[in-house]
Amino acid sequence: MLVKWIPSHLENLEDGDALHHFLYGEFATPREWCRKITDFLLDKAVLDLQNRLQERLITKKPIHIVDFGSGTGFAVIELIKKLELIGFFKICLENNIKINLFLLDFPHSWFAKGYQLLHSYPFIKFYSLKDLQTGKIHSLKDLFIEQSIDLLIASMVFHLLPLKTLSDIIQDFDFVLKKGGLLLWNSPDIGPALPGSELLHDPNRKLRTMVLNLLKNELEHSTISKIRSIDEKLFEKINQVKKHITQEEFAEGSALAKLQILEMPTSHETITHLLSQSFNGNITLINSPMTERDSLDLISIPANHRHYLFEIKNEKTRLNIIQLLMHHFILPQFYRDKDHRQFNLQWTLGVFKRNKD
Ligand SMILES: C[S@@+](CC[C@H](N)C(=O)[O-])C[C@H]1O[C@@H](n2cnc3c(N)ncnc32)[C@H](O)[C@@H]1O
Repeated sequence: MLVKWIPSHLENLEDGDALHHFLYGEFATPREWCRKITDFLLDKAVLDLQNRLQERLITKKPIHIVDFGSGTGFAVIELIKKLELIGFFKICLENNIKINLFLLDFPHSWFAKGYQLLHSYPFIKFYSLKDLQTGKIHSLKDLFIEQSIDLLIASMVFHLLPLKTLSDIIQDFDFVLKKGGLLLWNSPDIGPALPGSELLHDPNRKLRTMVLNLLKNELEHSTISKIRSIDEKLFEKINQVKKHITQEEFAEGSALAKLQILEMPTSHETITHLLSQSFNGNITLINSPMTERDSLDLISIPANHRHYLFEIKNEKTRLNIIQLLMHHFILPQFYRDKDHRQFNLQWTLGVFKRNKD
């Protein structure tokens, strides 16, 4: 049975706040790195919902929307803004058409932040993908009846999923979406990157390789000297980490890092192939600028650096090493123009309709 999720009082919002900041900065509109693609994706959602509304004005049946992997609720916050602008909710209310917007994720700090921001909307329902009593992971098939969902959104989720999980989830999407239902997804870390573009986590992948080489004494002498000359005190701290780290910690760190960021990004051909069994649609590649501040804010989200660079236990030391290596060594490799410390981020957007037969 579907049980609505309410975050426990133990939920710490530090991580959720950091993700929200990465998406919005100090403002109420999304940061440039994710603004254009989110607009693009949600304009398609609005168009689809307007068409469905025309039909529901006659049938009076409810509209069911799922946001899969909601995190801090980013896609839903932006969708609501767009729908309010066109008076969508008012028309639904006046015509007695019920809307259900289901937000699904694992019960962590990101989702708790989403709850904080969105729980007051009467049409929004939060569901945990993990059963809090038994620990069992729910699939969409456990949560919804067959062909019951009109629109499914997966914003910035697919790049996190290992192939088997992705394949299972696409089958679940097929199960729960109505015939002609719409699947909208986007991701900033789906390969291959076209010449002149980069994927979101490529700098982080290079960062991890460099940190491991540093801890294993496998960096060139000149690089080590440069690190020392930039920050002598930090260099000493790195030496302390090197002295105490064990093989078990390297193994544990490597297992955690693989769960956080896929070693090899999934390709859009793979996703298109998986979708082709029961969906019709296509993908679009879109670029947006990713600044040095954006890259540093991304890796500074606690869940990201704690799991991705687990080998460095002290949080302050870890963040200082990240800052130094990213600024002086990693990010400059991605910049084409030395005066603009930013790169071209490649986004993949998918618009797919579930086949009617
Ligand atoms: C990068 S965040 C994106 C959050 C939000 N959709 C957005 O656009 O900001 C990815 C989200 O996907 C969720 N996620 C990861 N693996 C998942 C899975 N197997 N099933 C559902 N959600 C998953 C994570 O918990 C996380 O909240």
